[in-house]
Amino acid sequence: MYILHISAECFPIAKVGGLADVVGALPKYQEASGITSKVIMPFYEKDFVKKHDPIGFTKGNLLLGLEEYYYEVLEYDKKTLGFELFLVKIFGLTDKENVYGYPYDVERFTAFQKVVADFILNQEVKPEIIHCHDHHSSLIPFFTGHCYKYNALKDIPTILTIHNAQYQGWFGYEKMHYLPEFPADKKGVLDWYGQINPLATGIKSAWKVTTVSPNYLGELQEKANGLEALLKQENNKSLGILNGIDDKLWDPKKDKYLKSNFDKKSIKKRQANKDWICKEFNLNPDLPLISFIGRFVHEKGSDLLAETINYIFNELNLKTNVLILGSGDGQTERSLNDIKAQFEGKYNNYIGYNEELAHIVYGGSDFLLMPSRVEPCGLNQMYAMRYGAIPIVSNVGGLKDTVIDFDEGEQGTGIVCYDISAHEIGFAIKRAVVVYKNKTFFDTKKTQIMNIDSGWKKSAAEYIKMYQSLTLKS
Ligand code: GLC
Repeated sequence: MYILHISAECFPIAKVGGLADVVGALPKYQEASGITSKVIMPFYEKDFVKKHDPIGFTKGNLLLGLEEYYYEVLEYDKKTLGFELFLVKIFGLTDKENVYGYPYDVERFTAFQKVVADFILNQEVKPEIIHCHDHHSSLIPFFTGHCYKYNALKDIPTILTIHNAQYQGWFGYEKMHYLPEFPADKKGVLDWYGQINPLATGIKSAWKVTTVSPNYLGELQEKANGLEALLKQENNKSLGILNGIDDKLWDPKKDKYLKSNFDKKSIKKRQANKDWICKEFNLNPDLPLISFIGRFVHEKGSDLLAETINYIFNELNLKTNVLILGSGDGQTERSLNDIKAQFEGKYNNYIGYNEELAHIVYGGSDFLLMPSRVEPCGLNQMYAMRYGAIPIVSNVGGLKDTVIDFDEGEQGTGIVCYDISAHEIGFAIKRAVVVYKNKTFFDTKKTQIMNIDSGWKKSAAEYIKMYQSLTLKS
């Protein structure tokens, strides 16, 4: 079987969030189980392309509206990453540094998807499954299903995996001429509330829709940034498959970024990571270390962090450390910097994205805080558990599928916060401080969560089952 994954992000080439981790890991596990799994994504002017030369490339010209663009599809063999990789470099559009945030993102990702469809059309051996991830590739099932040019591809099953339904890639009908030609009666497939909505188009056109956790699938029918009715309507072809984590890359015993490697038998060595963090950030190693790692966006609840920190120190008088690692919303960054002086010695932050530091923080923190309002799967809680940091999470999306509250009895794996406000998060942190003081319980739980198997094996098998159900039918 040959699967082609299409995505805007893939670790280690370009990462903004968890999407990259998933698209960087799943193909490796698929390859290991005997499936040919390849990734095609936009080119970005980042370290990866500076360090790795492609083994070859194909070239062509693309028409987007009235503009013509020259492009190259760079090819990397399996030796580089464990799966074949293709980078779409469209000169003037996808030869930039950043993944998102250009005023012409609609043009970038529409052009990218047209090149991908052409690329598949020209491939001698065609994929048996086209697997799209999020809205940056979700027009492809429409192209292959309905556009004249790609008629030869219409029998290849398409899958759309939703990693985040908040972003849908909307654009107006004045840009409809960017798309390949299709029969007039298919215009409605593009539409959602009077706009062209690539994510909605993908949900309607793909043969199967998956979400990155089972619970998120149910949640989307109630709360999906306007797509609730559509997801209800397409429920029959949808399923939730929980993400795994790359447990070879994320292995505290071998992790090259950690200051001190450890496993559950040598868990004492974990402390050296905490000590390093506390020294680096002027925190107290004798008190619990509660960390947050993530983008500062409303979905992640990061706007509540400064208020929560104020609350736990000024009102609850908790004896703990808090460390925040991330970047994003300017107001959140400012509020987190503003309180630094006031809580010196027990609170600090690192504004930015730093993969290496993130690994150390998982390997040295006692607790990892994730007060997300929306969390389709969440990988950080799984990284944390594998590294022996107890998750403090909200009760949404994949967090609900992966963390059980200590109050539920022996199987408990963390602290669940049932409401998202500074007050409730503060209360959850208070529970964490109590847990920290109960040495026996704390130590038992750390080992217990490190034992959880969050690898890709099980989920990769579920994807294969789904692929087979589609290829056997066709
Ligand atoms: C997105 C979601 C996150 C999920 C990740 C990978 O970043 O916000 O919850 O874990 O995609 O699927």
